[in-house]
Amino acid sequence: MEYINNYINKHKDRFINELIELLKIPSISADPSFKEDVLNCSEAVAKALKNAGADNIEICETPGYPIVYGEKIKDPKLPTVLVYGHYDVQPADPLELWRSGPFEPVVKKTEIHPEGAIFARGACDDKGQFYMHIKAFELMMQTDSLPCNIKFMIEGEEEVGSDNLGAFVRENKNKLECDTILISDTGIIANDTPSITTGLKGLSYLEVEVTGPNRDLHSGLYGGAVANPINILCEMIAKTKDQNNHITIPGFYDNVLELSHEEREDIARAPFSLEKYKSDLDLSDIHGEKGYSTMERTGIRPTLDVNGIWGGYTGEGAKTVIPSKAFAKISMRLVPNQSEEEITGKFTKFFESIAPKSVKVKVTPHHGGEPYVSPTNIPAYKAASKAMESTYGKKPVPVKSGGSIPIVALFESELKVKSILMGFGLDSDAIHSPNEHYGIFNYLKGIETIPHFFVNYAKGH
Ligand code: BES
Ligand code: MN
Ligand code: MN
Repeated sequence: MEYINNYINKHKDRFINELIELLKIPSISADPSFKEDVLNCSEAVAKALKNAGADNIEICETPGYPIVYGEKIKDPKLPTVLVYGHYDVQPADPLELWRSGPFEPVVKKTEIHPEGAIFARGACDDKGQFYMHIKAFELMMQTDSLPCNIKFMIEGEEEVGSDNLGAFVRENKNKLECDTILISDTGIIANDTPSITTGLKGLSYLEVEVTGPNRDLHSGLYGGAVANPINILCEMIAKTKDQNNHITIPGFYDNVLELSHEEREDIARAPFSLEKYKSDLDLSDIHGEKGYSTMERTGIRPTLDVNGIWGGYTGEGAKTVIPSKAFAKISMRLVPNQSEEEITGKFTKFFESIAPKSVKVKVTPHHGGEPYVSPTNIPAYKAASKAMESTYGKKPVPVKSGGSIPIVALFESELKVKSILMGFGLDSDAIHSPNEHYGIFNYLKGIETIPHFFVNYAKGH
């Protein structure tokens, strides 16, 4: 399949420059002050699809940000692949930790990326990754080698929970009809160790508010005599885990699917260095649920984390105060067969039950999603595995991820179609973090691997 590498070699500088242009648009879905930019980004994606050769391009309005759709139907008898991605990005803050502007992309070499990496918010998550699909599509169109029908659905609200996508999928089942879904929004183990994600976690994300006295108080005059909501909130959070880091919420583990001995052995066989993991993060020791390895803790065990906590005085200097309120944002990552509704309910009941009478507690659910498992014995997985084996020279390892992409479970329940998570990012690419980047090697390797997937899938379907 020489035509693939020939086309990439001839056009790679343009491929990189086009991605750089897309990365200049600050399409931050969480912050309403970037609304125009998010909308402009949807138009840039539509234009890119058009230039690559897609038909019936639409910018589909939703109550939130639009979904960009495009397709190439070669022959209704051929199998159809739906490509999903998201053009929205996470907020860039803390800005002061970026070594170059988050929306002024630059190519720099790093130890892990000797060929260079593009530094910008969204470089890996997910602009660099969905753009590989648009360029691979261009390649297949230009070399007259597209062996399947293809549909693109690139959304603009993934980083804020894809609230409007459920309704869109339900109302557009015909438009989205397909045989498999291909997504590049995950990672691989390393550039010499390809992997395919076979599990995503579900999510229950909520905010808690603890109220003590009806106003802020002088901490000398009232200290020790009334409940301090920050202290109480900390005590309550501490009660969510025991000394083995087991979550104590009643019934939390009731529906957790326990893996067989063989499945756990498979996980232990995947390449992983605990020493490297620790040194990457400057940690002297790791932390987690007793009885499980690091890979199991991230891949197959549910977790609970505080994502933010605030209250009282946090400005310059000191202010002696007992605040009226304290807050925290808490997320729980879920595994099969837990459900968001079940766990949000159990958390709420537990949190209310452990609150002392001296405070009031309010729990507000945010967004969430259900966990997902991809089988390894279906034609689409085999097509992806063979594609990576051809381009990396090594068979990819199946890996369960700790991350979430809520739409994937929805695709399964609404369209009855499984998704293949063939991502190309690295954990060190710093997604959601300052100095996010995406390796040029990874970008071009993705563009090379995707056409192999299409050829394999057309044959094996
Ligand atoms: N692309 C990520 C998810 C991801 C990254 C999965 C790497 C596996 C490996 C996605 O954009 C993301 O950030 N998802 C959110 C969930 C969402 C509801 C905000 C997450 O996992 O926190
Ligand atoms: Mn993503
Ligand atoms: Mn993300």
